[in-house]
Amino acid sequence: MLLTHEQAILNAERALNKLVKKHTRAGYKPQWHFSAKRGWINDPNGLIFFKGYYHLFYQFNPYKPIWGAMHWGHAISRDLINWEHLPIALAPSEVYDNYEKGGCFSGCAVDDNGILTLLYTGVAYNQGKIVQSQCLALSEDGIHFEKYEGNPVIAGPPESGSDAFRDPKVWLHENIWYMVIGTSKDGLGKALLYKSLDLKKWEYINVLCESRGEFGSMWECPDFFELNGKHVLTFSPVGVGYRKAVYLVGDMDYKTGRFHYQSIGEIDWGFDYYAPQTMLDNKGRRIIIAWANSCDWMPWWKGYSPAISEGWCGSLSFPREVKLCTDGKLQFIPVEEYKLLRVGHSKKVKAKVYGETEVSLPASGELCFEMFLEVDVSISKANKIEIGLKVASSKKTLVICDLGKADLILNRNNSDGWSTGENRCPLEVSSEKIIRLHIFVDRSYIEIYTDNYRTVISGNVYAGDCATGSYLKVYGGDAYIEGFSYILKPIPHSRLAQT
Ligand code: FRU
Repeated sequence: MLLTHEQAILNAERALNKLVKKHTRAGYKPQWHFSAKRGWINDPNGLIFFKGYYHLFYQFNPYKPIWGAMHWGHAISRDLINWEHLPIALAPSEVYDNYEKGGCFSGCAVDDNGILTLLYTGVAYNQGKIVQSQCLALSEDGIHFEKYEGNPVIAGPPESGSDAFRDPKVWLHENIWYMVIGTSKDGLGKALLYKSLDLKKWEYINVLCESRGEFGSMWECPDFFELNGKHVLTFSPVGVGYRKAVYLVGDMDYKTGRFHYQSIGEIDWGFDYYAPQTMLDNKGRRIIIAWANSCDWMPWWKGYSPAISEGWCGSLSFPREVKLCTDGKLQFIPVEEYKLLRVGHSKKVKAKVYGETEVSLPASGELCFEMFLEVDVSISKANKIEIGLKVASSKKTLVICDLGKADLILNRNNSDGWSTGENRCPLEVSSEKIIRLHIFVDRSYIEIYTDNYRTVISGNVYAGDCATGSYLKVYGGDAYIEGFSYILKPIPHSRLAQT
């Protein structure tokens, strides 16, 4: 059946309303991390600050809480905290010329002289082969989008690409539009570079940057931006185990179209942080948001999360500001707007922790909180700091600073009976006297920042809606701890329509 875009969107909205009516429980739902009303979400798409609002689009299946039938959901916000759901922006509809029957995959948004323009990957199947092409959709009011009649604007990959050819990210440099697209060739991930004067006619330049094996077989969701005179390329490599969101910092040569990097880092070392995208806002901040879940090809994924019993699956990470350090590494700092969510006075902790006794931490019993801890290990030979976050009775998620091995660990083996695994990453401050940790818990998503926000590790824990407390323990010696916590209030449901 041929569907116009408008009809396809109406059908999708109806299906979504059915899911909303059917599922009333939302015990796992994070409160101030963005999630759709119901249905499945993955990558953030089209992040842009446009005419006074932050726009957030996302990969969305409004029919079921599992991946499939990729649409673009849409929400706006003035403060990155309170999001208002808008009608679905893109639905796969152009079945007649078969360029996106398989879905509207990830992409970006740009402001083209006041026209909000989306660039996305249309996925079609042609004689059993997947065809990924790049498409345009335009909107004058920033809410309703019309697909460009000349779609696709890039019909297929160049010689240096392959059938996996998706996730365009576009920016303007000296009055020329540039686009980076993820691809794979001969088992190696690559970012391809294109240019255009009008967003419609694109010319292939060359390979901007590529894997030599260390960065996987396909680069999903590449992003490229300038930061304090340097350039940053981010992407999610397929097939490299722990590596889910990489950044490279270096220099761009627009004459050759090549990017040369000097430093490499992980944006987030956690289980559930994938396909990040950035935007520049009106305050000049480079803000990054990712899909706060993981993919089915990752070793610890055991099928769809328990949240599907509530008719939804997937949320987005909290927006973080990206900053460049003098050594070429990046910091990822939660945008300060989250402080608007703080409720009441901070609860404080100041105590001496004697080896292996548990000290109760101030956010005990809360489901949504932030906690800032400074652990002074200089008084003895303490070699391990263990923080147990008891987000459901008798279950705990462990955050461990292994000072001997200089590692930070997030362990979910006893978290919720569903999540598994232990993530480990280097802890730069392990030889310092004071270890500082900033922890956020939002029901089913936990984020741990350390190393002055240069190291982040985050993951989902589906523990339900009860919390019994959290504690800190040290092994191998004693320590002083000092810190504070705030409850972070839920966002009014009427706004988010999340119930
Ligand atoms: C990353 C990704 C993208 C693709 C989209 C499809 O999670 O696989 O490469 O465009 O999801 O939903």
